[in-house]
Amino acid sequence: MGLKIAVAGKGGVGKTTVAGSLARLFGRDGLSVFAIDADPSMNLYKALGIPSETMKKITPISEMHDLVEERTGARPGSSGGVFILNPKVSDIPDRFKVTGPDNVQLLVMGTVTQPSGGCLCPSNSLVRALMSHLVLKRDEVVVLDMVAGIEHLGRGTAKAVDAMIIVVEPGSRSLDLAGRIKELAEGLGVKKLFIVGNKVSDDEEVKFLQKASKDLGLELLAMIPFDREIAKADLRDNAPLDFAPESEAMKQIIKIKKRLEQELA
Ligand SMILES: Nc1ncnc2c1ncn2[C@@H]1O[C@H](COP(=O)(O)OP(=O)(O)OP(=O)(O)O)[C@@H](O)[C@H]1O
Ligand SMILES: [Mg+2]
Repeated sequence: MGLKIAVAGKGGVGKTTVAGSLARLFGRDGLSVFAIDADPSMNLYKALGIPSETMKKITPISEMHDLVEERTGARPGSSGGVFILNPKVSDIPDRFKVTGPDNVQLLVMGTVTQPSGGCLCPSNSLVRALMSHLVLKRDEVVVLDMVAGIEHLGRGTAKAVDAMIIVVEPGSRSLDLAGRIKELAEGLGVKKLFIVGNKVSDDEEVKFLQKASKDLGLELLAMIPFDREIAKADLRDNAPLDFAPESEAMKQIIKIKKRLEQELA
């Protein structure tokens, strides 16, 4: 099953917590899973339960200057020059993946500057080609932990994403951004869009999210409570699924996984 799931949303809403836990849950089912860290803060490894010592040895793809040059024909940092926009990437996932608990394979992309920023430099070109390859060509489950803006997905890649989950906190700022992500994602051709509420504390917030999902016209897949156990997992530098497998928050993430399987079967 080649399920392709992207997780997006405003900074700090819980994208990495959700993406990492989903990847682990799919891996636990025996599926082959790639977890893609496409966020410059590069902390997906923590939510996957990969030790910091392992992470220290990982160079993000965008910073592998020799590889970028070999594949695109140009050195990172160079601009204005000619380089290959469609470099060969098919060997990269298996060469540079790191395998973590539940057999989840992590690939760290590093900083991806958005094309709207004016720079489609060689490392961007390589990362975009790699994301596209993973989503379009691989049979594995692929879970993408994204930055807020999703422009760097590219149209062809976005169309092959089975589901995008927009994580929102109960609050107008996170919701405004969700609206913009929705527009972008629809424009790019993402097949299915859902929202997930996170850090939900009381009834007013529940109602806020229910109304928000109606207004956005997106199904609310789950409402994950604000859960001290999840915060504690971070405090203790542990993966949420390892530290708090029975927590109320994790129960909701498990629900998300099941709903995705149903929806996309
Ligand atoms: N349901 C929850 N209850 C309590 N704390 C949570 C919950 N979900 C996430 N957190 C905490 O909120 C913080 C941000 O979560 P996370 O890193 O998953 O968000 P993010 O959207 O990926 O952030 P960034 O934009 O920085 O990548 C973390 O410290 C995490 O432990
Ligand atoms: Mg994150």
